[in-house]
Amino acid sequence: MWKPERSTNKPLYRQIAEHIEQRISIGELPPGSVLPSERKLAEQYGINRSTAVQAYDELRASGVIERVPGSGTRVSKHLWGMTPLSVPNWSRYVEGGTFLPNLPFMRRIRESIQSGENHINFASGELAPELAPNEAVRTIMTQHPFEETLGYGDPQGYAPLRVQLASFLRTYRQIQATDESILITSGSQQSLYLITQCLLSPGDAIAIENPSYCYSLPMFQSAGLRLFGLSVDKHGVNPEEIRTLYRQHRIRMVFLNPNYQNPTGTVLAPARRLEIVACCEQLGIPIVEDDAFSMTSLETDPPMPLKTLDHGGTVIYVGSLSKIAASGLRIGWMVAPQSVIHRLADARQQMDFGLSIFPQWIAAHFLNSGELARHLDGLRLSLRHRRDLLVDALIRELPEEITFELPNGGLNLWCKVNKPVGDYELLEKGIKQGVLFVPGSVYGSESGYVRLSYARPREEEIETGIRKFAEALRTTLAPR
Ligand SMILES: Cc1ncc(COP(=O)(O)O)c(C=O)c1O
Repeated sequence: MWKPERSTNKPLYRQIAEHIEQRISIGELPPGSVLPSERKLAEQYGINRSTAVQAYDELRASGVIERVPGSGTRVSKHLWGMTPLSVPNWSRYVEGGTFLPNLPFMRRIRESIQSGENHINFASGELAPELAPNEAVRTIMTQHPFEETLGYGDPQGYAPLRVQLASFLRTYRQIQATDESILITSGSQQSLYLITQCLLSPGDAIAIENPSYCYSLPMFQSAGLRLFGLSVDKHGVNPEEIRTLYRQHRIRMVFLNPNYQNPTGTVLAPARRLEIVACCEQLGIPIVEDDAFSMTSLETDPPMPLKTLDHGGTVIYVGSLSKIAASGLRIGWMVAPQSVIHRLADARQQMDFGLSIFPQWIAAHFLNSGELARHLDGLRLSLRHRRDLLVDALIRELPEEITFELPNGGLNLWCKVNKPVGDYELLEKGIKQGVLFVPGSVYGSESGYVRLSYARPREEEIETGIRKFAEALRTTLAPR
């Protein structure tokens, strides 16, 4: 946040006026936009109210802003010639485009994270920085000379990384992939994006779990797809519902997150897996298996992907390093039939010419280093400890108010609030208490659920965070 410079000779009010003028001229404050009150402006810039009044007086005198009776101070609607640039109406532009804005709850959470107020963060479904393999990455960077060319690479992805991934998938996931059947993407998110953009058309019906991963919901809607929910019970989705949706809406694809599903943490039951793959094979509908979490199993062996049951090429398998190593590397992958890989690699070339060589080079060395197995063992132990800290704190603080199923993997705990509660009010009360979490409605579920991620906060924050959450919940539930 910009603040005026107190050590220069230029008066503070002038600096503020120039700063506002500059924000107007670059379109950040379009004509007609409402400006903060003088009191708010003073707070924002850390100045006296009288300095704020002086700054506005100056801008008003030059016609850049105007006072509108009843609605405060606004940027003048008639700015032509007043500023060095003619100002496009950015607010109209930003409402356009095919990509929907993020969900309001997610924007509110992001703003709170960015505010620097140090909320205890149960909202971000990612690993805490101390859980990433930083030491292994440092070693790779110091011990291996970087000798790759720095031109546009293969849009299908850095070949040595695809070779390493094929071996990783064989060893850890029993998936028989070759480097040719793998596409490297910028996280699983880009795999999902490419699939929606290149393999589906606006108006197509798809089946997704309900509730399901929140960042994929607006992306599917932006692609003009019609979404139909598959309810998720203790054993995952029910194959019968897929058949029904096919009969009723001719669904063209099924998106599943069968292992430690986000947000519910459920694992699709073995018998249902067989039935779902058989049913989709019979109907000729592809399954997109988003397998972000299977390697984070906490107590048992990781569940095997649906892809291992697929012998005819029905399943597109999507994975990533985000939840098992580092989301900032942006390394994701997809295993699919050749024709699909070629189509998506071609789209990738048009879109961004492929992923930067650097994270791909690091990931290839990481997978080849033998560090991965050690890292995964440590990660699972830490996640299990964090999950237990979270669960113990919840049982202590909210024994009556909350119920949940203990997840055996993934990063999240899906909690049901046992009394009716407003998502918006609960989130705002939480933010006030200094704690962040995600209201269940963000995932498409009915209200009254909350997702708490145990991977992101520091271990020592978990107990305090749950005390704050409990306080927020109790005050929200308290009769008025
Ligand atoms: C189920 C699921 N799929 C995909 C993603 C996207 O992850 P990334 O793009 O970092 O691989 C996430 C992130 O939270 C997720 O939970």
